[in-house]
Amino acid sequence: MKATAIAHANIALVKYWGKRDDDLLLPQAPSLSVALDRLITTTTVELGAAQDSLLLDGRPAERGELLRARAVLDAAGIRERARIESRNDFPTGAGLASSASGFAALAAAAVAAAGQERSLGELSALARLGSGSAARSVPGGWAVWRDREAEQVAPPEHLPARLLVAVCAQGPKEVGSREGMKRTRDTSPYHAAWIEQCRRDLPEALRLLRERDLAGLGALAERNALRMHADALAADPPLVYWEPATLGCLRALQRLRSDGVGAWATIDAGPHLVAICAPSDADRVARALRLVAGVREVIACAPAGGVRVVEAS
Ligand code: DP6
Repeated sequence: MKATAIAHANIALVKYWGKRDDDLLLPQAPSLSVALDRLITTTTVELGAAQDSLLLDGRPAERGELLRARAVLDAAGIRERARIESRNDFPTGAGLASSASGFAALAAAAVAAAGQERSLGELSALARLGSGSAARSVPGGWAVWRDREAEQVAPPEHLPARLLVAVCAQGPKEVGSREGMKRTRDTSPYHAAWIEQCRRDLPEALRLLRERDLAGLGALAERNALRMHADALAADPPLVYWEPATLGCLRALQRLRSDGVGAWATIDAGPHLVAICAPSDADRVARALRLVAGVREVIACAPAGGVRVVEAS
């Protein structure tokens, strides 16, 4: 009746930004991500409580978060009330997104606590009901999410890469992905073009991944992220997720490239920038990012695997 699971956060190289179903959290376009080894959530679920409760890093969660967790349990057919405790083992909690790793770990822990046997695909579909991007943290590695569930298309070691997370601000962002994505879909005049772009980018990204072409994949990921932000900037009211340090990091990567160092950026719906580079360039790229004004810390990650249950009783 009690189980603990661990999952990694992921960063998308072809982004999910637009739902075709707001209740089922189904995407308008497919996305591709890689799991990040140093960004980990550990979640324990104990069934049979008097009422549902959710502690996030020791603090009671907001009602909305509790309802999202309940939606995952309901979809798994778990009627018992649950005591859920979730911890982010992120180097510092500087506003880094944790919903992907959080809901992936929750789905796996809840199902294990209930004694259910489920495939990774089923777990992915359950995690998706908490947060769309969580579908990709279940299989981990290099993962593609097209519709109800995500799947691993290549194991973590397929393409040696480093993902350097430059922390560009502190605290939670003003407009979360849930709301920002909806606003963009409903008001940006560029949204149809963005969705078409993702549908073209995914097969190209999969070809580059298969060929282990890090330069090609990095450049594609940077273009894809900037186009997502172009779409969000065009929303009404506009969504400006960047801080000055975000732009400073983009410029630093451009300078590195003109010096012959391969490093490319991706940016989620927030101020932090993730640089993609080869392991042999990681120290040099991390040093350059640390010198950018406003960068608080740089977390060097390698590709990681999927969710795993570490304890069940
Ligand atoms: C910009 O998965 O957090 O990180 O499905 O509404 O919970 P909901 O949104 P969420 O959105 C992630 C958006 C993104 C891009 C991505 O991870 O693909």
